[in-house]
Amino acid sequence: MSMMFPRVGFAKRLLALYGVVFILVLFVTDWTLSHVLQKLDLQHLQDSLSRQSALICEIAAPLLKDTLRLQAAVKKLTQGTDLRVTIIDTDGVVLADSSEVAAKLTTMDNHATRPEMAAALDKKTGVAIRYSMTLNTRMLYVAVPILFNRSEAAIGAQPTILGVTRTAMPVARVDEMLASVRQPVMFAATLGILIVFVAGILFSDRLTRRIRRMTTVAKRFAREDWSEKILIDGRDELKMLANTMNQMAETLRSRIEDLESEKGKISVILSNMDEGVIAISRRKQCVLANPAAERIFSFATAKILGKSLLEITRHPQLERIVDQAFQEQKSISGEIQISGKPKKTLRATVIVLESQVRDIGGILVLHDMTDLRRLENVRKDFVANVSHELRTPLTSIKGFVETLLGGAGKTPETRERFLKIISEETDRLGRLVEDILTLGEIEQGVALVKKEKFDLSSELPSLLDPFKPRIQQNKIEVENRLSEKSLFLSGDRDKIHQVFVNLIDNAIKFNKPGGKIVLSADQKPEGVTIAIEDTGAGISEEALPRIFERFFRADKARSKELGGTGLGLAIVKHIMEAHGGHATCHSTLGKGSRFEVFFPA
Ligand SMILES: Nc1ncnc2c1ncn2[C@@H]1O[C@H](COP(=O)(O)OP(=O)(O)OP(=O)(O)O)[C@@H](O)[C@H]1O
Ligand SMILES: [Mg+2]
Repeated sequence: MSMMFPRVGFAKRLLALYGVVFILVLFVTDWTLSHVLQKLDLQHLQDSLSRQSALICEIAAPLLKDTLRLQAAVKKLTQGTDLRVTIIDTDGVVLADSSEVAAKLTTMDNHATRPEMAAALDKKTGVAIRYSMTLNTRMLYVAVPILFNRSEAAIGAQPTILGVTRTAMPVARVDEMLASVRQPVMFAATLGILIVFVAGILFSDRLTRRIRRMTTVAKRFAREDWSEKILIDGRDELKMLANTMNQMAETLRSRIEDLESEKGKISVILSNMDEGVIAISRRKQCVLANPAAERIFSFATAKILGKSLLEITRHPQLERIVDQAFQEQKSISGEIQISGKPKKTLRATVIVLESQVRDIGGILVLHDMTDLRRLENVRKDFVANVSHELRTPLTSIKGFVETLLGGAGKTPETRERFLKIISEETDRLGRLVEDILTLGEIEQGVALVKKEKFDLSSELPSLLDPFKPRIQQNKIEVENRLSEKSLFLSGDRDKIHQVFVNLIDNAIKFNKPGGKIVLSADQKPEGVTIAIEDTGAGISEEALPRIFERFFRADKARSKELGGTGLGLAIVKHIMEAHGGHATCHSTLGKGSRFEVFFPA
């Protein structure tokens, strides 16, 4: 839609129209005027001719027999005027004519056939306008009969007709008069038109300029650009219109701002929600989705509009929940699983709107339950695991004690062997209980009361000392890159020792004979990362995310055989978190593992 200004503005068109109407009126007026004047003048002329004819009849009646005297009288009567008088007898023979000399009268043609003459011979008054060849001009002819009453007293007697008197005058006079009037009138009219045109052009120019100015700003309004107001001068309707438009723009602007800020609020809320939100129409078409929903189903928000729910979520179970909700006309929730890595558990709630608001028939809220479900499972597992872990050594101890009581330990060797096993199992029980207690303490945050600064690199050798026999036994090479310079850490010294003891213990325990362990550190402004790398069995991809869980053992048989409880890494993780840091692990099955602990600066 292009909005160009027209080349000829409306004011100019109006002006042109006015001009045409003006000229038209002028012509019509001129025509009517001349018509009316002509008519009036003719009437006047005719009346005067009739009267003169009647008078001439009186004069002519006694002279009809004496044509010479009649001709002389007629000449005398019309001397110095335009009046032409013609007198004929009842046969149409011209007896006298003011415009001819007496000698020529006999040569004139018979006048009885002239229309006015014919009417007069019929005792009426004849009138005619004709072009006279004799006088070379248009003439008005009025003919009256010359009557003779034989007896004045004889009432009702028919008068006899003696002849006809005809008077005539040229009518050109009216035209002449009109022509002389028309000229000044036309001049005045032309001047008037000129003045009107100049004034009109000036006015229309101003009008057009003001309208264009209004239009330019109004166009900006249409583009929601409120930076300018319509400013025009004058105090007319246009000014009122401009003011109204300005008010309108102001109202519109504040309305739009309100709406936008409302929309902004809603979109901020929606995009910062953890829950996925998808608004759908009654026909299960997506109307709106927030980023969380986008993340859950990995679709692009920009492309969802109008697509069906199934198309963007590819989840028939979800569709069924929505169907049910729409069918029963009530809000329904259900749990759904989403495949992927990791697998997710979601609680989907469909809120059915009673009346469809702006195409939205229902709102789908998706709550990620994965962590909750996992924690529940961890807790359940923990209880089961604790009981299980405690029962194993207890059963073993009870078994051997009963065997001893039953008199099985006859020989001192057997007795000693049994008692040794019982002692080992008791130790294991003790370790287990201690680990569980440590974990509980750290989780509650009570253990971390002390905070001191110490140099880890100077303390590491003494931490490694107790492992020496096992290292030698398995022919493991330990490369300690931390001994070169001091590495200051701050926190609970004993607990941090425990972190490294646990990690080194694992690195030896799950290493293969002749393997290697590398201890290294990376100091950055944001904190220190210490890595313990081994060339051992490694951890499978499935087990990797779970190794920091309590009682989790990737390789159950081996760990148990090595006397592990599966709590070591859980303790590491909790101690690190209590220090504001974290523990991570990278591993390749069969090649080795790299554990990293990060202490923030
Ligand atoms: N360096 C490693 N290489 C290979 N697997 C490891 C390593 N460290 C830990 N794991 C795996 O992670 C599991 C959990 O380790 P964690 O230290 O928590 O338990 P544990 O060593 O079995 O028992 P505990 O430490 O209580 O004696 C281990 O059972 C083992 O399968
Ligand atoms: Mg361990």
